[in-house]
Amino acid sequence: MKQVIVLNVNGEPYTVAVYPWQTLNEVLREEINLTGVKFGCGSGDCGACTVMVDGRAVSSCLTLAIEMQGKEIMTIEGLAPSGETLHPIQESFVEKGAIQCGFCTPGMEMAALNLLKNNPTPSDYEIREALAGNLCRCTGYKKIIEAVGVAGQKMKEASERKTS
Ligand code: FES
Ligand code: FES
Repeated sequence: MKQVIVLNVNGEPYTVAVYPWQTLNEVLREEINLTGVKFGCGSGDCGACTVMVDGRAVSSCLTLAIEMQGKEIMTIEGLAPSGETLHPIQESFVEKGAIQCGFCTPGMEMAALNLLKNNPTPSDYEIREALAGNLCRCTGYKKIIEAVGVAGQKMKEASERKTS
């Protein structure tokens, strides 16, 4: 039997009726229409479904929607600060040409955010380690790693400007 729950996604409350076994991925994509969240393997291996929950990256394909009540969920649709401005991570992916088909990009950018919010100046090794759970079939990863490094610099500079 379905249960009515409220999910806080990208700062907005969504009331949805879900079965206890429905994943967060399914509910985000099919009930809330946030299709930036991708579904790849469904088994925690590809990272395409990564979203942030209470500030930490999680695989939405392995997470039950019903357990997400009261938590703050962020999807790729909530990353940009406005409709006109990209987040530094998005800007850097574009600038560095780190996107081809784009299927992995939302999950990659969520994983990048998970890293950079605590470590804006990671080494290439730290970036590779942080993105190890995110698969890309197109880019060969080099440009993605460069983009994450540049994004960290941009985020650091933005936060220094705010505090000066
Ligand atoms: Fe969730 Fe692949 S779809 S990790
Ligand atoms: Fe195509 Fe990564 S850009 S899978």
